[in-house]
Amino acid sequence: MKKKQLKINWPNNKVTFALDGDDWFKNASKASLEIPTGCLTGSCGACEIDVNGETIRPCVNSIEYKNKSELNVEFTSDPFW
Ligand code: FES
Repeated sequence: MKKKQLKINWPNNKVTFALDGDDWFKNASKASLEIPTGCLTGSCGACEIDVNGETIRPCVNSIEYKNKSELNVEFTSDPFW
């Protein structure tokens, strides 16, 4: 069975396609973006992004299908990171 591709809309207006469970950082780099990182263990919040309005930490979360065919990503604009 073919897995469904998720369309990801990035804040720089680029679009990538990913599968459920794919890595956020690799997809960001496909869109020529870099998600900031810190601890990589889910505790510092440096990597936080908003996905369809929900804040996630990509270092401990993979791309999830969640009954959507499209994900809209926004970078949280914390000036300290
Ligand atoms: S890098 Fe620290 S929470 Fe993701």
